[in-house]
Amino acid sequence: MDRVIIFDTTLRDGEQAPGFSMNTMEKLEMARQLARLQVDVIEAGFPISSDDDFEATREVARQVGTLENPPIICGLSRVGLADIDRCWEAVKYARKPRIHTFVATSDIHLKYKLRKTRAEILKAAQDAVRHARGYCEDVEFSPEDASRSDFGYMCDVLSAVIEAGAGTINIPDTVGYAIPREWGERIARIRETVRGVDRVVLSVHCHNDLGQAVANSLTAIMSGARQVECTINGIGERAGNASLEEVVMALRTRKDFFGLDSRVKTEEIFKSSRLLSHITGVHVQPNKAVVGENAFAHEAGIHQDGVLKEKLTYEIMRPEDIGRPSNKLVLGKHSGRHALAARLKDLGFDLAGPDLDRAFKVFKDLADRKKEVYDEDLMAIVTDEVTATGAAGYELEYLHVISGTGVVPSATVKLKKEGQVFQDSGVGDGPVDAVLAAIDAITGLKGRLQDYALRAATSGKDAIGEVSMKIDFDGTVVSGKGSSTDVIEASARAYLSALNRMTLTTVQRMKEVGP
Ligand code: KIV
Ligand code: ZN
Repeated sequence: MDRVIIFDTTLRDGEQAPGFSMNTMEKLEMARQLARLQVDVIEAGFPISSDDDFEATREVARQVGTLENPPIICGLSRVGLADIDRCWEAVKYARKPRIHTFVATSDIHLKYKLRKTRAEILKAAQDAVRHARGYCEDVEFSPEDASRSDFGYMCDVLSAVIEAGAGTINIPDTVGYAIPREWGERIARIRETVRGVDRVVLSVHCHNDLGQAVANSLTAIMSGARQVECTINGIGERAGNASLEEVVMALRTRKDFFGLDSRVKTEEIFKSSRLLSHITGVHVQPNKAVVGENAFAHEAGIHQDGVLKEKLTYEIMRPEDIGRPSNKLVLGKHSGRHALAARLKDLGFDLAGPDLDRAFKVFKDLADRKKEVYDEDLMAIVTDEVTATGAAGYELEYLHVISGTGVVPSATVKLKKEGQVFQDSGVGDGPVDAVLAAIDAITGLKGRLQDYALRAATSGKDAIGEVSMKIDFDGTVVSGKGSSTDVIEASARAYLSALNRMTLTTVQRMKEVGP
């Protein structure tokens, strides 16, 4: 095979990391973007793990797995037969469903976690794959903690599951323990030892505990692996998984070396990265390879001089290869709805109807306040719109804040919900605190701010401020984001988006399970 299959597990391994949880709507939005990015496989969730995860996986299968030319939609499952049944119930709606079943094969896991013998685990793995094949042609198997498993035993398990019908064998470095040369050799030895391995796709899934996840994935490819499991921005358990954008751009930029490429539409990489940050409220570090703020910034005079003379001197990739907007002025306050829709389409956001109306209103407000509206500004407002809860929640109508040195900060807030307007006020130890107190007074809910981050979408004093928050509403932790040229207003919007998400999820759950 002359290309590498890109298996994206942002919505499963990525989402299960603390601080990265997504609700069904957010997972769907991200899955649609992953489809535009043209990943081959989307691992949408672990359906038995919770009702929410089941629902999200099912909706991704229904809504993204049935698009024209869709990606494979995969669900994760342990080897228990009930797990596999539940997984199938969620993924079966996709045109190309996959069941991914796994069990640990290292003696450490067998002894302390599973308390089973090697023979029992081998049989469970083979039975699971047979059971999954009863539902679905496309079955993947992973021996968890493969990097610390006894090699001979792990190969026996792999031979057994191939015989039972697994079509993809995924070798995980679950704890990020492997070192590139050793890992490459392990993959090569698997190809020499496992019975039937030539009939299946060999895959790797590397964690980043020692910072080797991408390097390990690439050495595995050099040893014959043809599927890589990875995540946008490298999110995932603990230190994360191999970063999709780094693997894909390494293959593309060094095609001369690897002689392989992926199907990924690299021009969608930047937008995927930003959408994920926006949804989760977690920004990528500025020096992150490929998608970090500084990834294409040349600061040193000698570098700038070289780049001005010829970009090739210091640039191995072009920003446009990953769809990074060039920050050019795009629209102004006289631009109309059509111009906005066309520019958004260029940026990959195909908005119409009420979504476009809302985005246009926000754009007009922004253009009134800010002379120059950049692509980055548009991406900030539009990702707010696509991840908003729509008409179901509270909307900010009016905000007035008094704050300063030697003054007790106070705020008056008007909110609108289902046509009704509510007003109240609050005081706090700062203007943001006062605004949140006023919102709490209106809604009767009390949120505890766990995390707060503010960043500028572009440079300049009039830049849009993007606020991300994590709020604890009586034990339910939700994230929210908001943007505005006024950072206090952005904070109010972020708080409302968290509050709306929390109430919407509660209402959905009550509808499902009854009061
Ligand atoms: O890290 C791991 O071992 C996993 C498996 C479920 C593939 O995520
Ligand atoms: Zn993992």
